[in-house]
Amino acid sequence: MSAADDDSLFVYDEVAYPTPVLPAQTPSRMRSACIAFGYEPKACDTASMLEIGCGDGFNLIGCAAAEPAGRYVGFDLSTAAIGRGQEMLALSGLTNVDLHPGDITAYPKTGERFDYIVSHGVYGWVPEFVREALLDLVAARLAPGGVAMVSYDALPAAAPKVALNRFLRERTAHLVGPEAQLREAYRLVGILAAPQHAGSRLKPMLDLLTKELPHFEPAYFFHDFLAEHYAPASMQDFAAAAARRGLRAIGDAGMTDLFSGDLDDEARALIAAAGDDYAERAHLLDMLRGAMMFRRTFLVREDAPPPLSARGLKDLSYVFLGGSETGSDERGPYTKYTEGEETYLIVREPDERAIMAALDEAEPNELSFAELVARTGLSEDAVERFLARAVAVKLVVAQASPQPFVVVPGERPVAAPLIRTMMGVGNWAITLRHARLVTEPEPTRLFLTLCDGTRTRAELAAEMSARFDTDVTLALVEAAIADLGPRRVFSA
Ligand SMILES: C[S@@+](CC[C@H](N)C(=O)[O-])C[C@H]1O[C@@H](n2cnc3c(N)ncnc32)[C@H](O)[C@@H]1O
Repeated sequence: MSAADDDSLFVYDEVAYPTPVLPAQTPSRMRSACIAFGYEPKACDTASMLEIGCGDGFNLIGCAAAEPAGRYVGFDLSTAAIGRGQEMLALSGLTNVDLHPGDITAYPKTGERFDYIVSHGVYGWVPEFVREALLDLVAARLAPGGVAMVSYDALPAAAPKVALNRFLRERTAHLVGPEAQLREAYRLVGILAAPQHAGSRLKPMLDLLTKELPHFEPAYFFHDFLAEHYAPASMQDFAAAAARRGLRAIGDAGMTDLFSGDLDDEARALIAAAGDDYAERAHLLDMLRGAMMFRRTFLVREDAPPPLSARGLKDLSYVFLGGSETGSDERGPYTKYTEGEETYLIVREPDERAIMAALDEAEPNELSFAELVARTGLSEDAVERFLARAVAVKLVVAQASPQPFVVVPGERPVAAPLIRTMMGVGNWAITLRHARLVTEPEPTRLFLTLCDGTRTRAELAAEMSARFDTDVTLALVEAAIADLGPRRVFSA
């Protein structure tokens, strides 16, 4: 039986899943994270990548725009999703992407082997026979020296979600249509959340849901909490399933497994006893912290692993693009470094402040590990220890190749071609840091399409004034550039 042997409309054709383009799914960031774990996959500029269950393929389109000499292939069971991707592909003019409909269970096991394989949001949300076929496909199509990333919800942290998913699904199954099911599921979440007392094991998840639901994309909730198939896996079981196909787990795209400074001596001793066995270490971390809800595990071929030459964090460069503020509390003075709205790190130790100050001063440029050691005068060990933490909490980005963007563009600003194409037809685009940039105001969208490198800032002001029949001053254009630059839209 194939995954599509059913007359009813495929659920992803019925309810579109907006692809959440994520930096961690690019070859560039996968390569950087693998190097941090001691593996060095192929350089990304000419690499090939396959995405299994790619949805609309926007992730691949963003990657392909950043690496024109690379080759990107994606398939998905949803013909509607693939259709949306093919439309954008035609508009973008990109020739290095191939998107086509396909079923994991029937996809050819022979043919081109890929340097990078990604399957995001699929493994834990399909029936068991599809999960098996997905790993078979990775094993068949991963090139020697290649790296795959497969994501899934992780046990034990995801255990309460299994119960919640089942409860919500069973109690909404009688309703006709996703909208009615969603309405009822939201109502049920509210009813469940209210009486949970402090000791409730469901409370943290229900509290989070109640807080997040008003801002949540309904399609994500539908395909997750109301998914017909929902099967989180423990790191241990996932690694065992991969091993049966000759694949070995070597790290996680989230890079949290690099850091164990939050654990006590006994816990760290348990981890140390796991030695080089990454899967065992990661499994122990999941049991010790109980907080890892989502894993993006890197897999390599046992028979041809990539070279083990990388020196981990010492082989990477670092960039910090956030802000900072100083303060003082009962424990003394501190500096709070922030990146985006949710990520922050409070730094008190002078050595750690020195590292962050060096990165802050270099912003928006990156510093190599060696430069950081030289600028701070600290030992390699001290710098490595702090970076493992700063990278794990996503305050600092570790990278193996230079950033493709500038925060402050030149006199004739150039917004990346894909951004100009996407803003020309819609209200969102994929930035040069591979994130979603959503902008409703018409002037911003038009402004970005005009930034094609042919106009000076003064000419941009004149063109905007003419288009909107109002006085757009040079100062306003400068302010717009200053606002858009940190969102990584301007090409280097
Ligand atoms: C949660 S979405 C994730 C989409 C995309 N990978 C992302 O990260 O946004 C799951 C995707 O798996 C696809 N899928 C489910 N079963 C499949 C199968 N048997 N073969 C190919 N794709 C499948 C769905 O159509 C859907 O696009």
